[in-house]
Amino acid sequence: MINKITITAIKADVGSIGGHIKPDEDMKQSILTFLRESEEGKLLIDFRVQSVGDDIAIIMTHREGENSSDIHGLAWKAFLIATDVAKAKGLYGAGQDLLKDSFSGNLKGMGPAVAEMEIEERIGETIVCFQADKTEPGAYNLPTYLAFADPMHNTGLMLSPKMKDGFTFEIIDVENTKEDEVIRLNTPEDIYDIVTLLRNNHRYIVEKVYSRTTGEVAAATCTTRLSLIAGKYVGKDDPIMMVRAQGAFPATGEILSPYTIAHYVAGFMRGSHIGPLTPVSVNTGVSFFDGPPIVSAVAFNIKDGKFTSFMDCFANQFWAGVREKAYKKAIAIREQGWSGPAMLEDSELEYGGITERLGRLKAKFYIREVSKTKVQGETK
Ligand code: 13P
Ligand code: 13P
Ligand code: MG
Ligand code: MG
Repeated sequence: MINKITITAIKADVGSIGGHIKPDEDMKQSILTFLRESEEGKLLIDFRVQSVGDDIAIIMTHREGENSSDIHGLAWKAFLIATDVAKAKGLYGAGQDLLKDSFSGNLKGMGPAVAEMEIEERIGETIVCFQADKTEPGAYNLPTYLAFADPMHNTGLMLSPKMKDGFTFEIIDVENTKEDEVIRLNTPEDIYDIVTLLRNNHRYIVEKVYSRTTGEVAAATCTTRLSLIAGKYVGKDDPIMMVRAQGAFPATGEILSPYTIAHYVAGFMRGSHIGPLTPVSVNTGVSFFDGPPIVSAVAFNIKDGKFTSFMDCFANQFWAGVREKAYKKAIAIREQGWSGPAMLEDSELEYGGITERLGRLKAKFYIREVSKTKVQGETK
């Protein structure tokens, strides 16, 4: 019997303590209570709630397929309830990521980040779910590429016959806000084309990865860039991603391996800087300079849609050393403050203030008269 399950992970910032730091535990509890009471025996097979930085993630399994308005609507309601808790407690940015007044069938473009995939559940179905704060969806481009296409991180590409045919990358151009403009490229033969796109984390984002051996979906990332849709600053699109592991897919350790790099990504303070993507435990807040950008990962199995317990992947002592490196990289780039690559290019800056300031300065620029230079030997 085909056992089709959809895993939907939805993440939103609906308020936090002490600035953009961490949600209140009561907010998470309110979501759990709402889902437990409203969902007993209904749409959801299982769910978990956790946080990263100031964002709350709800990870759900169900049989409603991708883009289900019932499932998206349920998450929307849950975030409204957590917003009420945040408002009642006077937290900062209550309801920050709920950009619309009412839910209209699909969360796309409404604020929350959504990653989902409908799968035929394998025996021993293994999933890793990444949640990041103070960065953008393109932050996953490099680690996803390395996990699926580079034997420096995934030696299974040599060792396992189940991955020998490589993977298909589905990459979206988020600058087209009217339609979903995507391209499909294959590893290993198209890797130079793939990296030509993926080097631009603001524009080209790996949305899905598929196994070329089995055709199955291997990874799903949220890709909406709300500021491009809204045309103004509406917070960074702190991203969520799910990756299937083992068998025809990379092993969990191969998927985690690229996160040892702590590569520089966009985000950090006011979504306008560059900082190292720092692997942290689930439910960790941010601190230094509203950052650094952080990512947490949980690994788990599902059976008939039911979750096992969750492994907190970056809690292991091994990652303490990576964090030390990331903190040094964070301080190193912050030492140059506003200069050059420490901040994002003008078009990516998240606050209108700078555009206004630049506009005002532009009006004060003037064309200098070219003064006549005296040519040698010239006489009056
Ligand atoms: P406000 O401009 O709403 O104060 O938010 C800025 C901020 O908190 C950046 O850390
Ligand atoms: P969030 O997008 O995580 O709310 O952060 C906003 C910000 O400006 C932090 O400095
Ligand atoms: Mg916030
Ligand atoms: Mg956030």
